[in-house]
Parts: sequence; C-alpha cells; structure tokens
Amino acid sequence: MGLTTLGVIGGTGWLGGALLRPALAKGFVAAADLILSSRSGSKAGFEAWPDIQFTTDNQALVAEADIVILSVRPEDIDALDLDLSGKLVISVMARVSAAAIQARFKSERIIRAMPNACAEQGLSFTPWFSTSETTVADEVFADRFFACSGKTAKLSTESELDYFTALTGSGPAFIAAFADVMIRDAIKNGVAPDVADIAVRQLFLGAGTWLAGALETPADTVRIFTDYGGTTAAGLTAMLSADIAGPISKGLAAATEKAAKG
Ligand SMILES: NC(=O)c1ccc[n+]([C@@H]2O[C@H](COP(=O)([O-])OP(=O)(O)OC[C@H]3O[C@@H](n4cnc5c(N)ncnc54)[C@H](OP(=O)(O)O)[C@@H]3O)[C@@H](O)[C@H]2O)c1
Repeated sequence: MGLTTLGVIGGTGWLGGALLRPALAKGFVAAADLILSSRSGSKAGFEAWPDIQFTTDNQALVAEADIVILSVRPEDIDALDLDLSGKLVISVMARVSAAAIQARFKSERIIRAMPNACAEQGLSFTPWFSTSETTVADEVFADRFFACSGKTAKLSTESELDYFTALTGSGPAFIAAFADVMIRDAIKNGVAPDVADIAVRQLFLGAGTWLAGALETPADTVRIFTDYGGTTAAGLTAMLSADIAGPISKGLAAATEKAAKG
C-alpha cells in the first residue's frame, strides 16, 4: 500500500480479523501500514504480523490513518465520537446508513460493504456501495481489499446493500439452519449424531462447490432432476409443493427489514 495507512476501528473483532488476515497474507496490506483499535487492547489472531500497531485510542488511530474501516457492532457506534472529515471511511456495519455515518463522523467519502462469515476462507461474497463523493481510487482500494477475502460486486443503490445484508451477509447462518434441519432429520431416522454431522457438512461442501462451478443454473438443476423422475424428484416435488420458497422468502424479508430500519 505504500504511503497509505489503514486504520481499523474494531479491527481485532471477529469480522475484522476474518477480512484482515487474508489481506495481510496476500500482501495487499503491509503490517507496518496497519493500525487496529479495540477497547480491550486485544492482539489475538495477529501474532504472525508483529509490525501491526494496536491501540485503545481511536483518536490516535484517526490521526495516523488515511483510510478508516469501521468494524464495531452497530450498537457500539454511539460510543464513537470521531471526526473523520477528509478520510475515506469504509463501513462493514450492518444497519448503519451512509447518511448516519456522514452525520456522525463528518466524512463525505463513504463506502459501505457487506462481507460474510466465509471471509476468513477467502469465500465471502462482498457487495459494496459508495457515496457520490468517493473517488475511483477509493473504490479501487475497497474492491481490491474485499477481493482478498472473496468475490465482490459494486451496487448502485444503498437499498440493494440492505437486501444483500440479508441474502449473503446473513446467508451463511440461513444455510446452517437448513443443514441443521437435515442433521436432525438424519438423527431422527437413526443415524449416529457424529455421522449425521459429518455427512451433512460434506454434503454442503460438495453441493456448494458443485453449484458454484456448474454450467447449469440452480433452477436448471432442479428441473433436470425433476424430469429424471427418480428418488430426487420425489423429494423435490414434496418439498416444493409444501412451499419451501415461502418460508425462505419470509426469512429474507424479515432480515432485509431489520437491515434497512437500523
Ligand atoms: N460477523 C459477521 O458475519 C458479519 C457480517 C457482515 C457484517 N458484520 C458487521 O461487522 C461488524 C463487526 O461485527 P463482528 O462480528 O466482528 O463483532 P465483534 O467480534 O464483536 O467485533 C467488534 C469489535 O469492535 C471492538 N469495539 C467495540 N467498541 C469499540 C470502540 N469504542 N472502539 C474500538 N473498538 C471497539 C470490540 O473489541 P473490544 O470489545 O475489545 O472493544 C470488538 O472486537 C458489525 O457491525 C456487523 O454488523 C458482521
């Protein structure tokens, strides 16, 4: 990054670490150009990079950083009293709008991004939205930073970001809920719990990898299996006629509403 210093408020938290370790490992961020803050002063998870600066003083972080990433929980934002005018501010916080960030921190150049729990493995889907004041260089920085931990996409409206907060931000937990239903069903049908657990985890890994690389769309795959008329078709027909789509849409709508309301 050369002359750019990156400060991450809440950077030693769960998501901060999951985003930063891939960016450090890939050499996109140099440890010496990175400063992380927390209230506790924790350094856990960054032992491999002794040149990182840690602080409990957000004001000191802001004084040094050209780019500030906000990675505290939404309920902790009220405790941050900082002037970020003139800086690029990148927020990964759900439920805090660009207007609220601008009003509180006086920054014009704001990028909101929504990574997910798969960032540490380099498998996040991270859409982002930028305010009109951001520069091309700001957008390139943000896109490359998030590309270290997965795939990225630029969105044109903030309301899309709220929808993606539900779809892919919360998505890994929705998939976990589906997996848990299958594990419970297997146990109910006499499968040993440890076997049920590994079987369903492997199923999701295999099916996810297959789906990600398949030429067919998921809809094509469902149609192909339904047309084949075998065991899978019997299962799919029963699931789809019991309206599997309804509860999924309801869940996405509830999460989107929560994301948008703040
Ligand atoms: N987890 C996810 O999958 C995910 C996905 C997308 C977006 N997000 C967003 O990412 C943000 C962080 O979530 P998280 O899961 O990483 O939570 P987390 O593990 O609790 O991390 C937040 C960090 O902020 C630090 N912090 C709190 N108040 C602070 C302050 N005043 N100054 C400096 N540091 C402070 C905390 O450290 P101390 O307690 O030591 O201060 C903590 O390590 C949230 O806004 C969330 O909406 C999370």
